[in-house]
Amino acid sequence: MAMIIDGKAISGQIREEIKEKVTGFISKYGKAPSLTVIIVGEDPASQVYVRNKARACEQVGIRSEVIRLPEDTDESSLVSLIEKLNGESGVNGILVQLPLPRGIDEKKIILAIDPKKDVDAFCYENVGRILTGDYDLLPCTPAGVMELLRRSGIEVCGKDCVVVGRSNIVGKPMAALLMHKNGTVTVCHSKTADLASHTRRADIIVAAVGKPGFITADMIKEGAVLIDVGINRTADGKLKGDIDFDGCFEKAAAITPVPGGVGPMTVTMLLQNTLKAAEKQI
Ligand code: GUN
Repeated sequence: MAMIIDGKAISGQIREEIKEKVTGFISKYGKAPSLTVIIVGEDPASQVYVRNKARACEQVGIRSEVIRLPEDTDESSLVSLIEKLNGESGVNGILVQLPLPRGIDEKKIILAIDPKKDVDAFCYENVGRILTGDYDLLPCTPAGVMELLRRSGIEVCGKDCVVVGRSNIVGKPMAALLMHKNGTVTVCHSKTADLASHTRRADIIVAAVGKPGFITADMIKEGAVLIDVGINRTADGKLKGDIDFDGCFEKAAAITPVPGGVGPMTVTMLLQNTLKAAEKQI
């Protein structure tokens, strides 16, 4: 029977620690770290995410501002806004919520953000730093996964780690962070031949594919640690991860639930990045 890794509880604990550090930052420098979030258009999921990010900032004492722009905002005015925020000393972190409306080149927007304020760690400089291990800001979801493992006492060193999914936001940086902790990492994806032959060998599986219940009990080995990054909304409106939680529960050693696993950690790592960015900028 698996230990359930309670991301909500671990997240709450880290937020308390961040709150204390923010209080210390304010008494030392006379101002709070600050995050500016830009959202373009009306995507309902993005609206929820942005609201959660702003609320989490408020909870730990980070000042946040949400800039809402209409769907028909053009690329050059968005770049100009980012350049203006890059120059403002009162803005420590800048996050542009993705996806952006069609017609705006996401890459151009991400690269317009000053790397020191890039709290998503999406720009080329920060990605390069992640790969070489010379980083300050870590991508929020993979960083959240590492923190869940660490705080659950799960050792990565020497373990067979299989990351399912190779996105720039999760899969690729996840593989880098696991390697930094001396895991032996395999990255699988939609073109992998015989995926189960890889996952069945894994001590730790990180699933980030975006398909509900994709990893089933027959694909894991007894005693595996299962980390579920997937957040899929099913037809009946429920949230379901990429891992078949009920099917794998008996066989796994540890498993993250959805919701309440990796999700809360992502926002918590954003808070940590904002504080780190502010400390670096002082
Ligand atoms: N949209 C979905 N996930 C993310 C994220 O981590 N950062 C940003 N900026 N947008 C997202």
